[in-house]
Amino acid sequence: MQSDRGHWGSSTGFILAATGSAIGLGNLWRFPYITWENNGGAFVLVYLLCVAAVGMPIMMAEFLIGRRTQKSTVGALRECAGPLWGIFGVWGVLCAFLLLSYYTVIAGWSLYYFARTAAWSAAGYPGLATGDLFQAQVGNAGLQLVLSLGFSVATVAVVWFGVREGIERLARVSLPILFGILLLLLVSALGMSGSGQAFGFLFQASFAELEAGSMLSALGHSFFSLSVGMGAMITYGSYLSRKQSIVKASAAIVALDTGIAIVASIIMFSVIFSVAGMTEQVGASPVGMLFISLPELFYTEVPFGALLAPLFYILVAVAGLTSTISLLEVVTAYLIDEHAVERHRATLLSGAAVFVFTIFAALSFSGTPFFSSLAVFANKTGWFETVDHFVSNIMLPTGGLAVTLAAGWFISRRVSHGELVDGNEPGWFRYGLWLGFIRFVAPAAVLAIIIAVLLGADFS
Ligand code: PHE
Repeated sequence: MQSDRGHWGSSTGFILAATGSAIGLGNLWRFPYITWENNGGAFVLVYLLCVAAVGMPIMMAEFLIGRRTQKSTVGALRECAGPLWGIFGVWGVLCAFLLLSYYTVIAGWSLYYFARTAAWSAAGYPGLATGDLFQAQVGNAGLQLVLSLGFSVATVAVVWFGVREGIERLARVSLPILFGILLLLLVSALGMSGSGQAFGFLFQASFAELEAGSMLSALGHSFFSLSVGMGAMITYGSYLSRKQSIVKASAAIVALDTGIAIVASIIMFSVIFSVAGMTEQVGASPVGMLFISLPELFYTEVPFGALLAPLFYILVAVAGLTSTISLLEVVTAYLIDEHAVERHRATLLSGAAVFVFTIFAALSFSGTPFFSSLAVFANKTGWFETVDHFVSNIMLPTGGLAVTLAAGWFISRRVSHGELVDGNEPGWFRYGLWLGFIRFVAPAAVLAIIIAVLLGADFS
């Protein structure tokens, strides 16, 4: 174990930091929005299956690879699976880089809504068409640049000081408050007239509507939400010491992450189906769902909503921050470990490089022809939606597939057994189950979905 590498302060600290990475805009913003785009029901079910059968085994694999090698993505894969596997490490670093470039923009939106709701709470909610407000703010180029620059600076600041003190403390305080507010919102949303319809939408599966493209989206999002498939959890695992049970930690992180995504969706859809005109507003800009639907709930339904609204949006920003730091950490740790760049320099370099691309993402909806035309896929707008699609549906599934193959077939069983099973546990159960999933079930599922999409040529 290298003495100059940081380590988590405690087991709880590690679980909170990794949960902080997993819980973020993926749960609150992305999951409800893509569930909407993929017609709910069957999509949600496929998503849950992907989380259990593919995402969770991969998370365990990433932690064990990181802890075993005490190295970040590239070095870790190279060391335990073989020299060629370093390429997939580089793929992961690139993925973190691209993901961060537009994730920062959404996090910036939550800062804007923090300011907006704080003003409404002070002066009274004007009851405006929140869909129009959202369109106006994403279209405002100057505002978008300021917001995303602000958020980038915050991310760099935390990584600069090292993850241990900052993240552990931040996650410890912010996650419980976020859970509390979501619970309050849930109770309020359940009392709304549209909540029945929301449950129907989310949990009544109609497989006739399920296309291969939706299955790929569900798979890709399970990686996105669990922060796997690109090395973030390898990197976090590399700061882990031997005492922690990887199996238990992974189970807790997966359960919390999935629970929050479902709760957020129940809340969001209850509002959408209850408030007149909301379906149209959200339909015009599904990407803004989190920011279009909830203000209504805070100011009309929730007890002390005026107090909680700004608090909620600032916590969305903090949830985003505990994720962006893990993304920047992937790139930074790569520079530190592979190119011997000193941490402060590495943080600044990677932060600045990512920000160049964040500018593209921030201006995607500005109507500037150059920036909105940076799109490769049909129906996608600018760098923002193009990269979101490319990262989630192409990079994460292929990266995840690489991790399953590396962990299942190329890392020696002695090593993976040693990392997953503590001396006196019934190893055959935990280890055998994991091995079966990581060797056969997970890669087969990922391959089957990718092949189905290729055959159907369904890339939209
Ligand atoms: N899991 C985070 C979320 O759901 C996003 C993320 C992906 C963070 C990959 C780190 C690595 O918001």
